[in-house]
Amino acid sequence: MSLFGPELETINKVHDESRQGESFAQEEGKRDLPAARRFYIETYGCQMNFSDTEIVASILSSEGFVPTPDFREADLVLINTCSIRENAEQKVRGRLTEFRSIKKRNPEAIVGVLGCMAERLKSKFLEEEKIVDIVVGPDAYRDLGKLITVADEGQKAVNVLLSREETYADINPVRLNSNGVSAFISIMRGCNNMCSFCVVPFTRGRERSRDPHSIIAEAKQLFNEGYREVTLLGQNVDSYLWRNEEGESINFAQLLVLVAQVDPKLRVRFSTSHPKDITDEVLYAMLKYPNICKYIHLPLQSGSSAVLNRMNRTYDREWYKMKVDRIRELIPDCGISTDIITGFCGETEDDHEQTLSMMDYVRYDLAYMFKYSERPGTFAERNFEDDVPDEVKSRRLEEIVELQNKHQFENNRKEVGREYEVLIEGYSKRSKDHLYGRNPQNKVIVFPKEQFEKGDYVKVRVTGYTSATLIGVSTSN
Ligand code: SAH
Ligand code: SF4
Ligand code: F3S
Repeated sequence: MSLFGPELETINKVHDESRQGESFAQEEGKRDLPAARRFYIETYGCQMNFSDTEIVASILSSEGFVPTPDFREADLVLINTCSIRENAEQKVRGRLTEFRSIKKRNPEAIVGVLGCMAERLKSKFLEEEKIVDIVVGPDAYRDLGKLITVADEGQKAVNVLLSREETYADINPVRLNSNGVSAFISIMRGCNNMCSFCVVPFTRGRERSRDPHSIIAEAKQLFNEGYREVTLLGQNVDSYLWRNEEGESINFAQLLVLVAQVDPKLRVRFSTSHPKDITDEVLYAMLKYPNICKYIHLPLQSGSSAVLNRMNRTYDREWYKMKVDRIRELIPDCGISTDIITGFCGETEDDHEQTLSMMDYVRYDLAYMFKYSERPGTFAERNFEDDVPDEVKSRRLEEIVELQNKHQFENNRKEVGREYEVLIEGYSKRSKDHLYGRNPQNKVIVFPKEQFEKGDYVKVRVTGYTSATLIGVSTSN
């Protein structure tokens, strides 16, 4: 018996940087309420953190706050932080220095730090950064109102308790900086994997899945508001599993189908898949429902089995190749992207060569590439030496980036002449006579505007390319 009865078809045959430091620049809506206090929020890190900011905005609006796009005008200045690499934390520190002027102008203003860095540093933040009044971890946002009240009384306030249950399922996110076409939906929180380099399990706590009813209700609401694309978010979406009190369960493939069934005109994307967990059931769902986009973000981290083992990724080179082969066998036109860390503890030239050769094997459509950054408290920090010199990390990273550019350029060259259904997201940055959107494989295509509008689906034939973008013309009438 399925939790969702006949709505859920059986498909059981076989089987989160680009937006660093974005501020909330939504129009201040309620100018007729002069007494309302104003908040400003700035977000760093992964899509899940941006999604959390939308939850925070919702909680604050129910506390009577209205948004402002200018921190100088705000009574409450918040920064939602990331700890994934040291430079992510440095950016936040730099920003807090810039925020010092706030209190000179408005001594009543409150400065708060949210998110992963708040969780990692806890009350130490208050000692290290004097301008900070409140420190709030990712599972404590419901407590914001109380913490602000404490700060109003002139005291410092901290809540960094992690939860085993919190999913903010009942909170209706306020969509910030939205293009009105695509939105993120968090389907789970936390992470139970213990990749040895990664701080996320410490900052986000145990993995928990959100009630599917609330996920589907959110997708329906977005569709009714005119959105045409949702991205289901989790650190490891393939381990999504929700059980009700009767013991009935919904796994990720089933959830994907339920969201795809909201409307054929609603595109569904998801991120991030873990190579150890992605199943054939998910691939079959992608094949069966044309509105589930043929695109998988499949972080490799390293092409060397020895390094993967030290990273505790729980797959090896051969397993990863097998997963890529399976994706290509079932969905030959699937876009595949990845994350790569270079210069992890003990990485040799040979290990590095294996990463390059894996890149040659997969020919990724997109890659996020990082130098290893040691994070306090992780298994790697406690047990391995960060022994690859920085100049070697930099040189290896350069080689990886160069190879990736070459692959993207070559992959895009092959796209010329192909036709795709593109969902229009807005005007091209360069010209108001051009629109841009994405094909199902997540590639950005720019094409002449003609009579089309944001949110339309349009057939576009590819006529040109760069390594980052496709250029095309519409073939729809
Ligand atoms: N849950 C996702 C990744 C989340 S973090 C997954 O498992 O794939 C996003 C990316 O940041 C990771 O994939 C990894 O490539 C990178 N990353 C994480 N910790 C890092 C560290 N200590 N140094 C450098 N890059 C890191
Ligand atoms: Fe970090 Fe690994 Fe969890 Fe991803 S799966 S968030 S890399 S511990
Ligand atoms: Fe995301 Fe950074 Fe936290 S990547 S989960 S905001 S450490």
